[in-house]
Amino acid sequence: MEILIKAARIVDESKDFLGDLYIKDGKIEDFGEDLNYTCKVVDGQGLTLMPSFIDLHVHFREPGYTYKEDLDTGGLAALRGGYTLVNLMGNTNPICSSMEIVEYVLKRGKELDLVDIHQVVSITKDFDGYTLSHLDDLDERVKFISDDGKGIKSNIVMYKAMIKALEKDLTLMIHAEDEDLTPIDYRISENIITIRDIYLSKETGARLHLCHVSTKEAIEEVRRGKAQGVNLTCEVTPHHIALWDNDYKVNPPIRTKEDVDALIEGIIDGTVDAIATDHAPHTGEDKLKGAPGLSGIETAFPVSYTSLVKNGKIDLKKLSKLMSGNPGKIMGVRKGKIEKAYDGDVVLIDLDKEILIDSQKFLSKGKNTPFNGMKLYGQVMMTIKGGEIKYSNKDL
Ligand code: DOR
Ligand code: ZN
Ligand code: ZN
Repeated sequence: MEILIKAARIVDESKDFLGDLYIKDGKIEDFGEDLNYTCKVVDGQGLTLMPSFIDLHVHFREPGYTYKEDLDTGGLAALRGGYTLVNLMGNTNPICSSMEIVEYVLKRGKELDLVDIHQVVSITKDFDGYTLSHLDDLDERVKFISDDGKGIKSNIVMYKAMIKALEKDLTLMIHAEDEDLTPIDYRISENIITIRDIYLSKETGARLHLCHVSTKEAIEEVRRGKAQGVNLTCEVTPHHIALWDNDYKVNPPIRTKEDVDALIEGIIDGTVDAIATDHAPHTGEDKLKGAPGLSGIETAFPVSYTSLVKNGKIDLKKLSKLMSGNPGKIMGVRKGKIEKAYDGDVVLIDLDKEILIDSQKFLSKGKNTPFNGMKLYGQVMMTIKGGEIKYSNKDL
């Protein structure tokens, strides 16, 4: 399959130029000015072409909670949001604590052939907070372990998990929360586990990725840890950088303007490695019962673009680094950059188009979002994966 995209503004973490891009046999074969190939041509005039986005943190709810989302609707929603690779969290039913479930998810993902999928396995078996023996059974298809949705209270368990992760070459994705403290002070709850886990990583050498960092204290700890050479990366979510003083139910909660400013400072100085959605679809009924989370994969780019680039805080190259380049690096894939022989996964965006968020139009089953009714910029017009058009906005 071949495709040539003509006359677009081409942007990745280190490039920003007007030109053409040619994809052949699933890979980026050529890019530059005035390319000529006889194949399908897409007119990119007036549009911006970027590497498609890579989401390090997603809940597609399979198996077990398919009334909230499944791999089909999640994959379609991801493509609509400009994503072609997602890292799926294991707080499913059953919890993903075995290769059997990993294999089930990967097989179904392949059959659906929408986006590329990586499955995260739980740190403790069935999220019991203690058992680590299942980690011995994991093979190289698993790169990340996480008890996301829950914190790990025990210091010794986290210490042993880090030793095991080192041995198995796994990255721990940390949902930093002490659930005993949460009802009293959710700020201390996030900060204390962040401090503990960075300290344990420093002592053990285990590779850590901190999920959805949301407080100014936590971001300062990440900055300090990195300066000391700790093996550390972190992500922030679009909602934690775009909203403050808002009581929409999500874990960790929406913080204050001071926290938002600190996260953006962390983005600017490189403390923050990635923007990840924590896409957490729920039914209306479950939200009324207090389920935390928001359906975020279809709004991540416009929310991030509007709150970071449109207002001049960072440039588009930097946003590409946060949403594609660095996540690709963290996942160890040849995706997320406009480079020859990288995967031909790109997205065409209309940056100037104002969009009114209407969650009823989401392809995700989860219509839960605090962004409903907001006017944002940056419409995904087309998502191409391996040279194949997987999503096209009907306005095009
Ligand atoms: O808001 C959240 N929702 N935070 C989490 O950690 C879990 C997630 C979910 O699975 O719904
Ligand atoms: Zn989490
Ligand atoms: Zn999550």
